[in-house]
Amino acid sequence: MNMAEIRIRNTGERISGEENVRAFLEKQEVLYEHWNTEKLPDELKEKFVLTDEEKNQILSAYDEEIRDLAERRGYKTWDIVALSDATPNLDELLKKFEQVHTHTEDEVRAITAGKGIFVIKGTEDVGYFDVELEAGDVISVPEKKPHFFTLMENRQIVAVRLFIEPAGWIAEPYDDPAFSKEA
Ligand SMILES: [Fe+2]
Repeated sequence: MNMAEIRIRNTGERISGEENVRAFLEKQEVLYEHWNTEKLPDELKEKFVLTDEEKNQILSAYDEEIRDLAERRGYKTWDIVALSDATPNLDELLKKFEQVHTHTEDEVRAITAGKGIFVIKGTEDVGYFDVELEAGDVISVPEKKPHFFTLMENRQIVAVRLFIEPAGWIAEPYDDPAFSKEA
């Protein structure tokens, strides 16, 4: 099973293995769950340009998981986001994404194809850390926790987003001199 991995930016330390990743993220108050990727039809596991019909196919493949998560945590709407080199202005989009920010509600992503990274500001002793996500990984960054999201080298991802209120997801810039992109 593919699983998320953690990289602590200050030390370069990596954390892998389900139990370790879970324990670390729990301490950082980041929700982490995993969905069974076998539920997704094979032809959608490596497809990054999606028709509306295909997006709906993904949502129905994971309908049970989505509704369970929504019921537990109060999400009211959900959709699919797909990014790849076929996305118009991907470089500009990524530049915009890669700014540390906060939201007034938590940011939930369930990766259904490809890879992505959440960079999150952890507790004082940890500092910034990366969560490298793969298909099946589900994460929620708590409200008010500084973070940003970006792609990995393959530059392609499909994810389910869940919202309490789409308006709660507006990014508020978080200016942090302690953050270095190069780390
Ligand atoms: Fe965000």
